[in-house]
Amino acid sequence: MTGFLPFGARAIMASRQEPPDSLNFFPTPPWATRAFVEHVALPVLGVRRHETVWEPACGEGHMAEPLAETFRFVAASDIHPYGYGKVADFLGPTDDVWPHWVFTNPPFPTGVDFARRAILVAERGAALLVRTQWLHTDERYELFTEHPPFLIAYYTERVPMHRGRWEPEGSTATDYCWVCWVHGAEPRPPMWIPPGQRQRLTRPDDARRFGRPAPAPLFGEGG
Ligand SMILES: C[S@@+](CC[C@H](N)C(=O)[O-])C[C@H]1O[C@@H](n2cnc3c(N)ncnc32)[C@H](O)[C@@H]1O
Repeated sequence: MTGFLPFGARAIMASRQEPPDSLNFFPTPPWATRAFVEHVALPVLGVRRHETVWEPACGEGHMAEPLAETFRFVAASDIHPYGYGKVADFLGPTDDVWPHWVFTNPPFPTGVDFARRAILVAERGAALLVRTQWLHTDERYELFTEHPPFLIAYYTERVPMHRGRWEPEGSTATDYCWVCWVHGAEPRPPMWIPPGQRQRLTRPDDARRFGRPAPAPLFGEGG
């Protein structure tokens, strides 16, 4: 795969432009990606650490960075210039990029297009983090009939996602799951990611790495 980008680009985020609401920027809590890697990607999908992974809707890197903690070659791109990864429309003309795997949390309205493109470009397979509600409707019925998922992995815990920022103490009433495709593999029964991952997989430096920097004060303190 071509187009790998170095990580640690979050330092230049101060110059980012706010994304329009239509892009559905809802960062993934880092622990949720780690739980996917540990319970689903490595043991069930069979992803190997040296294989190439593409996060094509990376936002500020909330999912790409935790993926890169385990996988050696992670590429990140997004249609909006967040100051992280390459700027590219995943649904635009097909690039010359053929990773082993595509993992992402896609924008809700174009999730089916993301799934179709991910299945097409990934050599080994793809997995999308979606609201459980996303599994329904006629459009998804067509997708799943044409491309039966290898696996659906449900979080038993809630995964709080907020527009535009990661809230370490956030809460939500929405349920999420991973829909996974592995080329050439027989579908297997659904699984449940065990509870307790949020506490176990949140790291002490996550707030510093993934939190939004506080705005600079307008005036000096103590005046
Ligand atoms: C739900 S957010 C997820 C962000 C990131 N994947 C994460 O998990 O933290 C969806 C992202 O999709 C991006 N996006 C929307 N349309 C896109 C497109 N056509 N191509 C690439 N990225 C797109 C948005 O800018 C936004 O960053």
